[in-house]
Amino acid sequence: MRVQVAIIGAGPSGLLLGQLLHLAGIDAIIVEQKSSDYVLGRIRAGLLEQGTIDVLDRAGVAARLHAQGLVHGGLEICFDGVRHRIDLHGATGKNVTIYGQTEITKDLMDARAAAGAKTVYEAQEVSIGDFDGEQPKVRYRKDGVAHEVDCDFIAGCDGFHGVCRQSVPQAAIRTYERVYPFGWLGVLCDTPPVSEELIYVNHERGFALCTMRSRIRSRYYLQCALDEKIEAWPDARFWEELRSRLDSATAERLITGPSIEKSIAPLRSFVAEPMRFGRLFLAGDAAHIVPPTGAKGLNLAASDVHYLSAALIEHYASGATAELDAYSAKCLRRIWRAERFSWWMTNLLHRFPENGAFGQKIQIAELDYLVGSAAASAALAENYVGLPY
Ligand code: APR
Ligand code: PHB
Repeated sequence: MRVQVAIIGAGPSGLLLGQLLHLAGIDAIIVEQKSSDYVLGRIRAGLLEQGTIDVLDRAGVAARLHAQGLVHGGLEICFDGVRHRIDLHGATGKNVTIYGQTEITKDLMDARAAAGAKTVYEAQEVSIGDFDGEQPKVRYRKDGVAHEVDCDFIAGCDGFHGVCRQSVPQAAIRTYERVYPFGWLGVLCDTPPVSEELIYVNHERGFALCTMRSRIRSRYYLQCALDEKIEAWPDARFWEELRSRLDSATAERLITGPSIEKSIAPLRSFVAEPMRFGRLFLAGDAAHIVPPTGAKGLNLAASDVHYLSAALIEHYASGATAELDAYSAKCLRRIWRAERFSWWMTNLLHRFPENGAFGQKIQIAELDYLVGSAAASAALAENYVGLPY
């Protein structure tokens, strides 16, 4: 089989790239190792920058997002038991929108099915090769049968644990990493959210976040130890711990119910450079990870895919390679700024045992400055709503 672009991975990056290429008449296949149900079952963040919405609009998949997304013009930060609002819209003229990654994935899958574009789910032993030459190849097995795809380009959209980044010779790639000494314990629940807007909490017992998926589905997170076990967190314990970290008015308003999902995720900052190796281009989590504190993971995937689709479209229209050549540097500039912001928010809001009482005092002083200074609030707002592409 031969296609112009072979996309590895049917997460948001791969599906969005597939849709943008399809609209431009570029022939692409997506090869995914899991089933579509498995991909749809993953619960991830759901806070979109305006830039991400613009890309989804261009991909023609934003109708449900516009109808159902919750537009937020601000957020709250709680410390020393008091909530403070940051006026995102007032500071930047922009909003953020709550719409779950699961829903975006579904919209993209539906659009791909409607377009009749080919996705191979449950592909086994996926491997890539010859991307340093003119004729890259993708190989996989499906139902016991071996397949080989010839292509012009490979898009590595296969997430942090994927095969694409790992197929690059060690000497050609440099990675930068910070692993944080804690995780997030998340609960999804069919109850109305405790507040209209998100609440980020700095508390001596650890960070907490009140967020949502819709007006009737809430999502809460607690900072927890890395070796924490889910079984040790029955719902009642989760709600009690969350209440203890919230200000009293919010704690009283909290409506609890049975959890419909509960998971622990580690926090990591990671960047691989460069993002292009001959005819292989990495995008999304395959190239970088941010801790979820700034909600930048999905938004960075969207900006990578925007740059990559534009470069491929230009190349197929004119034969030019300028945008393909500029891809890695363009992406990395935006990625490092989002890495910095996510790292900064993580440091500001979490309990770092090794920093001791001094570290806590410094955090409170910084938070106090942040909510009291229009300039500092605006700097947070500008990054939170998304830096320009
Ligand atoms: N072969 C084929 N597919 C693979 C392979 C492989 N060897 N390895 C991984 N995959 C698939 C995974 O099963 C997954 O469906 O690649 C997909 C990668 O999807 P994501 O991990 O969601 O990464 P990405 O599409 O870049 O999305 C980034 O998702 O992880 C969040 O926080 C992140 O919100 C951000 C967004
Ligand atoms: C979420 O809704 O899951 C979410 C929102 C904001 C974050 C992280 C996660 O910073």
